[in-house]
Amino acid sequence: MISTLFRILIAALILGASSAWSQQPIVIKFSHVVAANTPKGQAADLFKKLAEERTAGRVKVEVYPNSQLYKDKEELEAMELGAVQMLAPSASKFGPMGLNAFEVFDLPYLIPDRVVLRRVLDGDIGRRLMKLLEAKGIVGLGFWDNGFKQMSANRPLHLPADFKGLKMRIKSSKVLDAQMRALGALPQVLSFSEVYQALQTGVVDGAENSLPNLLTQKFYEVQKYLALSNHGYDGYVVIANKKFWDGLPPDIRAILDKTILEVSAFENAQSLIENDEAIQKIKATGRTQVYSLSAEETAAWRKVLLPVHKSMESRIGKEWIDAIYKESAALGYKY
Ligand code: LMR
Repeated sequence: MISTLFRILIAALILGASSAWSQQPIVIKFSHVVAANTPKGQAADLFKKLAEERTAGRVKVEVYPNSQLYKDKEELEAMELGAVQMLAPSASKFGPMGLNAFEVFDLPYLIPDRVVLRRVLDGDIGRRLMKLLEAKGIVGLGFWDNGFKQMSANRPLHLPADFKGLKMRIKSSKVLDAQMRALGALPQVLSFSEVYQALQTGVVDGAENSLPNLLTQKFYEVQKYLALSNHGYDGYVVIANKKFWDGLPPDIRAILDKTILEVSAFENAQSLIENDEAIQKIKATGRTQVYSLSAEETAAWRKVLLPVHKSMESRIGKEWIDAIYKESAALGYKY
């Protein structure tokens, strides 16, 4: 009798504990390095809102913007350790993990426009790149746009000769290192969160970035000139810790996968709008001179930068570069 009662009691306790446990929300820490009012920041917040609504609170997404939790390199390490579940780093930041193929996007003047970009990301190349992440315990969930990059400094940059001796901040990419050297500059790797101060104190003289980042980080306060050069592309890869993602209850994972698709469409549309608007907003500050490169100037940049495609072939893998050339050629683009 006692033992039956005892067994019932234990069973009730276990049941109670497990139902209490199952009521604990699944927490997703989503860390990123940019401001909340950038396309990436807004998309992360939208993902939080929709994920929490659609799972009726079974999932809780904590978004940490502005390198609050981790800086560039740390965030990828934190994901490997399972300390953070979702990130959206720039593709350039996968090189140090040995995923050099992602540096293909850093090749100057490789992606001519967003039409080619979409063919690349939404097609076979994008799918194959995502697959590469798995070996690192990462699952790729989507590509988010950041925009074409512009070049800023405290001296006007019109021709490659203007870069001579300038210390230019780059992300941790060997391709960007080669790009800056081809222009005659001295590249310096810095985390995104360190850029403003480095520009302010003269640790570096200039940088390249997308317009929403230039605006929201107020780089225009510490850079006198901004060349609208569109010399390269920068985009994000939304990723999750694979073990975590695969371990989610299937119904939850299905909701989150679908939500990511929708949020990716929002992010890509928003980025387009905000890249356009940022030009006007930066101009309106009156703090920096914004100018476009002339056709002759662009030709001079291309002349020194296009050879970087060849010199970085062995690092990135020729097949990735050729695959993108093929997509561009299909749309009639010539390098
Ligand atoms: C940078 O480091 O310049 C960018 O990748 C930051 C970002 O995430 O947009």
